[in-house]
Amino acid sequence: GAPVEADISKLSPGEMMTVEWRGKPVWILRRTPEMLASLEKTDASVSDPESDKPMQPDYAKNKHRSINPEYLVTVGICTHLGCSPSDKFKVGAESGMGEDWAGGFLCPCHGSKFDLAGRVYSSMPAPDNLEIPPYKFLADTTILIG
Ligand code: FES
Repeated sequence: GAPVEADISKLSPGEMMTVEWRGKPVWILRRTPEMLASLEKTDASVSDPESDKPMQPDYAKNKHRSINPEYLVTVGICTHLGCSPSDKFKVGAESGMGEDWAGGFLCPCHGSKFDLAGRVYSSMPAPDNLEIPPYKFLADTTILIG
């Protein structure tokens, strides 16, 4: 498949858009400072906090799992059996995910939970963090995926 260009100029902080790449949904989430701070909270609860597994690109091997910390670019497919996780951006009791939920994603199929960097929580059916695709910034507001 050909690379896909995403215009992120209209993406407000806290918003997510989806582009299709090779038939897969790629999420682009513009994280707020609060969302980025939540990664400190979830750090101890995820199984591969620095994405050390070899299939991750080098720029995913950090806490925020991205080139620019503000933008998460990830494939929106659960690494368990391929369902589509839902965004659960609300935090705390309001989220319906429990008092200490820090925001993230929930897979409806078997309940895998991911944080706002797509890092899978420990002891979930999904074995790996959400996939980070190959991408680069062509300009401040343009991302090339693939
Ligand atoms: Fe997501 Fe099973 S497919 S938890």
